[in-house]
Amino acid sequence: MERDMATLAEDKPQQKQWTRSPKAHDALKAHFAAHPDDLPSHPHKWDTSRSDIYADNTWEPIFAEMREAGPLHYIPESPFGPYWSIVDHKAIQHIEALPEVFSSSWEHGGITILERMDDEEFNEGEQRFELPMFIAMDRPKHTGQRRTVAPAFKPAEMKRMEDQIRQRTAECLDGLPRGKTFNWVDEVSIPLTTGMLALLFDFPWEDRDLLTFWSDWSGDTELMLAGKSMEEVRRNIQMEMAQYFQELWAKKSGEEAGLDLISMMIHSPAMNQMSPQEFMGNLVLLIVGGNDTTRNTMSGIIHAMDKFPDQRKLFEEQPDLIPNAVQECIRYQTPLKHMRRTCTEDTEVFGQTIKAGDKVVLWYNSANRDETVFENATKLDITRDNARRHLAFGYGIHRCVGARLAELQLRILLEELHAKRMRVHVAGAVERVRANFVEGFRTLEVEVTDY
Ligand code: HEM
Repeated sequence: MERDMATLAEDKPQQKQWTRSPKAHDALKAHFAAHPDDLPSHPHKWDTSRSDIYADNTWEPIFAEMREAGPLHYIPESPFGPYWSIVDHKAIQHIEALPEVFSSSWEHGGITILERMDDEEFNEGEQRFELPMFIAMDRPKHTGQRRTVAPAFKPAEMKRMEDQIRQRTAECLDGLPRGKTFNWVDEVSIPLTTGMLALLFDFPWEDRDLLTFWSDWSGDTELMLAGKSMEEVRRNIQMEMAQYFQELWAKKSGEEAGLDLISMMIHSPAMNQMSPQEFMGNLVLLIVGGNDTTRNTMSGIIHAMDKFPDQRKLFEEQPDLIPNAVQECIRYQTPLKHMRRTCTEDTEVFGQTIKAGDKVVLWYNSANRDETVFENATKLDITRDNARRHLAFGYGIHRCVGARLAELQLRILLEELHAKRMRVHVAGAVERVRANFVEGFRTLEVEVTDY
């Protein structure tokens, strides 16, 4: 990663076979089966970094108990080290409104609960592989890089993309089997989100499955618990991903400026000064940011509507509720459970002192169940008048830059389901993602009927 992109692009093996397996989840499962001693232990009853509570969907009462006891709690021991848990809506907004005090910088450990590896943990000659991205940067650098990407998501761009998204969504729904159970995640959520990203990046269509593969390896916080061997596999996959994007970058640099995101980044003053690592980091950010999240909401909507059939009926009878239903489903689902900050100076927050260097975890899933803001918060209510106050997109200077695109995709999915009068029932296995970061479904077996 020290050399420049042009040199690396020349090294490119012709017709390289890109790694496409094993999937991150399968690799992790195999690792823990072979090394049960590596399974993490969570002695603290409020250590919500444990992933079993998300796989089993038993997390809500734990956070309810914590919110009852106060907005923030120090968890002295966890597989990810000690950390502060911020569990209510107000406290999260308070902390996100102080980005200088509560840093997002990758130099402190970035935006997930993961520990940053110490230099001593690397063997001699081994390189640290880090991809700086603007979600994990502080001002002023964050400002310039975000400004470059933001125009791709402005309302006029969304308008431009709407017809294409609608057409792809309609085609996908028309192709679904009838009278047969199938996995909604594989047939709808994954193809629609990866296809969308491929269009956004003008990414080679035939390779778009790689976006899902890379995204899963990059966003899985559990992998870190499996130790160095898994970290090495992840690093190799990420290096391949970096190589792929270097080639794309080199190709696009020689072309006229286009409307896709890579082209926008290459031709923008704030981003064309970036180091290769930064460029790659920001691409990964957009891929992971736009992939796991929207994909899982597409599954989450179906699961939630099935769990609350009165709400599904309301949606079927009153399509004017769709925009609010999108907000409510995002609140209910909360596709990213947390973001992390690192405290840069001793600071008092709601009566407690957070010390410089402390890790601070903002639990959006808990904020979106905060009863002081959302009445009957554990219930899906597509008529909820303050659904938009959810924190699933974060808050403040880092609030999700792709929120409009995610909302557009989800709105169109609901509109097309309505236009085609398709009802989707959960009709088989449901497997949730086992992770403290991404919230979603690996399997959601459904059947489609007409109404
Ligand atoms: C339902 C779907 C989505 C959810 C729930 C979501 C959630 C989030 C969250 C929680 C943050 C951090 C906010 C904070 O720290 O305050 C974020 C930032 C970000 N998201 Fe999303 N996201 C979604 C879709 C997308 C899409 C479709 C894209 C782009 C293709 C995207 C790109 C980004 C980027 C680039 C950032 C960094 C913004 C910054 O640091 O200034 N996201 N997102």
